[in-house]
Amino acid sequence: MGTLEGKVAVVTGAASGIGLATARRLHSEGATIVAVDIAEAGTLKVADELEGIPVPADVSSPAAWELIARTARGLGGVDIVHLNAGVTTGREDIADLGDDEYRRIMAVNIDGVVFGARAMVPELILRGGGAMVATSSLAGLIAFPGDPIYTLTKHAVVGLVRSLAPRLKEQHITVNAVCPSLVDTPLINGEIRDLIIDSGFPLIGPEAVAEAVYHCVIGEETGKAIVVQAGLEPTAYRFARPPGPRQEGSEGKIPPGWLGDRGEPSPATPA
Ligand SMILES: NC(=O)c1ccc[n+]([C@@H]2O[C@H](COP(=O)([O-])OP(=O)(O)OC[C@H]3O[C@@H](n4cnc5c(N)ncnc54)[C@H](O)[C@@H]3O)[C@@H](O)[C@H]2O)c1
Repeated sequence: MGTLEGKVAVVTGAASGIGLATARRLHSEGATIVAVDIAEAGTLKVADELEGIPVPADVSSPAAWELIARTARGLGGVDIVHLNAGVTTGREDIADLGDDEYRRIMAVNIDGVVFGARAMVPELILRGGGAMVATSSLAGLIAFPGDPIYTLTKHAVVGLVRSLAPRLKEQHITVNAVCPSLVDTPLINGEIRDLIIDSGFPLIGPEAVAEAVYHCVIGEETGKAIVVQAGLEPTAYRFARPPGPRQEGSEGKIPPGWLGDRGEPSPATPA
């Protein structure tokens, strides 16, 4: 018996790379996979391989999420959601960024996660709880001058996950982000891949990211950004708390941690 026997998992970007590896990993534990991807042939292929349900769809469309929710309900409900589909601009120079290119990355990397969470949270609640994992990136935690707009979207995913977590915890739903460094998938191809390999920087196999997703799914931690690096165990990133105001007055009215640290001076506090 796998650990996910009887569970239903929605995986976006399931036709390739990290999503494909995660769909396979969750299926290996017995989960039924709802495979979502804009690439129709690839979606049908993975669903066929894993005896799951294909949903060829664009994650940036709210209507697609209605279809995904209906499909999952037909299987009894949703227990696991991996919001993973994503794209890059590949542009370093913001002056070269086209309007359509900008709208597309915001649509896939941000709308796809927001609309996905909005549609899936009520489904998870109907099941009495579950796990949601979003694929951010190391670029969600650090400055990545190679693609500033990609970096913007991945920071947004981390902020969303951390901010959703406290409320969802009350509904027995965990929500975490995985933040991989460079992963050997079709997202990194051609010259860039050659450059990375030549530089000796280790690429991560998509299976290692899938393993980190699986651990988020079976674990109880929530609101974490899990860094995935070659040769390291997946590690929750430790955020420093920014300094809060030193003026007394509103304690007890604003939840702790909302507006910065009022306790011990954080390392970011100027001396
Ligand atoms: N490869 C890396 O180095 C790396 C590192 C960190 C994070 N990530 C993130 O991992 C996620 C998966 O990327 P990957 O590396 O597996 O790339 P990939 O290109 O192999 O897979 C991405 C999949 O998303 C699908 N997709 C794209 N737009 C979509 C849309 N609008 N609706 C539905 N599906 C759509 C694609 O068809 C593709 O199958 C992305 O969010 C990416 O930003 C990748």
